[in-house]
Amino acid sequence: SGIITLDPGYKNTGSCESAITYLDGEQGILRYRGYTIEELAEKADFLEVAYLLIFGELPTKSQLEKFHDDIRDQAVVDEEMKKILDSFPKSAHPMGVLSSLTSALIAFNPSSVNVSSDEDMYRAIVKLMAKFPVLVAWTLRKKSGLPLDYGDDTLGYVENIAKMMFKKPNKEYKKNDIVINALDKLLILHADHEQNCSTSTVRIVGSSHAGLFASISAGISALWGPLHGGANQAVIEMLEGIKADGGDTKKYMAKAKDKDDPFRLMGFGHRVYKNFDPRARIIKKAADEVLGDLGVVDPVLDIAKGLEKEALEDQYFVDRKLYPNVDFYSGIIYRALGIPTEMFTVMFALGRLPGWIAQWREMRLRNEPIGRPRQVYIGETQRPFADIEKR
Ligand code: CMC
Repeated sequence: SGIITLDPGYKNTGSCESAITYLDGEQGILRYRGYTIEELAEKADFLEVAYLLIFGELPTKSQLEKFHDDIRDQAVVDEEMKKILDSFPKSAHPMGVLSSLTSALIAFNPSSVNVSSDEDMYRAIVKLMAKFPVLVAWTLRKKSGLPLDYGDDTLGYVENIAKMMFKKPNKEYKKNDIVINALDKLLILHADHEQNCSTSTVRIVGSSHAGLFASISAGISALWGPLHGGANQAVIEMLEGIKADGGDTKKYMAKAKDKDDPFRLMGFGHRVYKNFDPRARIIKKAADEVLGDLGVVDPVLDIAKGLEKEALEDQYFVDRKLYPNVDFYSGIIYRALGIPTEMFTVMFALGRLPGWIAQWREMRLRNEPIGRPRQVYIGETQRPFADIEKR
């Protein structure tokens, strides 16, 4: 004690020991519980990956079935929650709505707050894995003016999410494997990323024993910012802006490099990756495939590729080791799937949910102390109080 090490933004401070996600920023390696992101995105589905992240092992068939059955049992949200959703204006940003609804879940599920045993934790986790997709679907349906509905428990986890989101009234819902596979892949690629801003938030809120739902709701708020998960929405808005401005990518490259201009190339750069973001590589390839399979032609995909090419050859970006990150191409896929731009960060939250849960669970099982950083005080030392007339 006595000497405080100052590290704004915690660029070099480890906040915990963790056995969940391995990230090597120099080599561009990302592994969940030891399995490479490339292999998981190719061979696993999202629920399997969620199980892996949260409980540490790939599930056997029966473990996965039990987990899924437990989730199905809880896949309802109290009808009263609809009133809360109703009271939001349709123009409300879906991330604000989602974090509020997640907080509101606490009031309807009080037993999920004080979890002391691993069993209590399991119940809270299952509830959240079950109810969160309903909230996500409702958030989208509210935005699109569609009636609120529940899922179909004969379907797979992601298939059910797609149906809850996209089903139109009076119209039979047809499963589309391209959509399901694309969603599975995107959700897996977003599922965890060690101690990023929202995950650190979940851990620090959870460290006061605030409960899982409150911790996750705080994580959603942290994710919303454009420097973090909000970047996926910001990327599409930037690409649309460039398109509307005649597609002059060079002009925007110059703006991004101009230190007097606050503009940044959204979807570029990362705190840890200094070589490339392995998720971006997979997502770029998937964007080409999904748009091709769905027969979607999106002119902003060409603008994105043009920007990437220019940036990778530009000294400013090379010197600072700035590469496209996970958010650079993801929005183009979400858009091709018919998801509105303001919902992109909600999709990120849906994907990150198992990672947040896994990190929260690990922290609680390890009995970590309350998160409480120190500071270096630089204000006035001591001053006599002045009466209001004399100030
Ligand atoms: N465009 C232009 N310049 C940039 C960019 C960018 N996107 N990113 C970083 N720089 C410059 C920055 O100005 C600084 O230059 P200098 O050394 O001359 O002052 C240098 O690169 C280092 O940047 P930094 O801001 O100190 O780096 P950081 O680790 O604090 O920030 C970041 C990382 C991701 C917040 C930042 O790169 C950024 O704002 N990127 C755009 C937003 C974005 O895409 N966020 C998503 C991140 S990945 C997924 C997620 O977290 O959700």
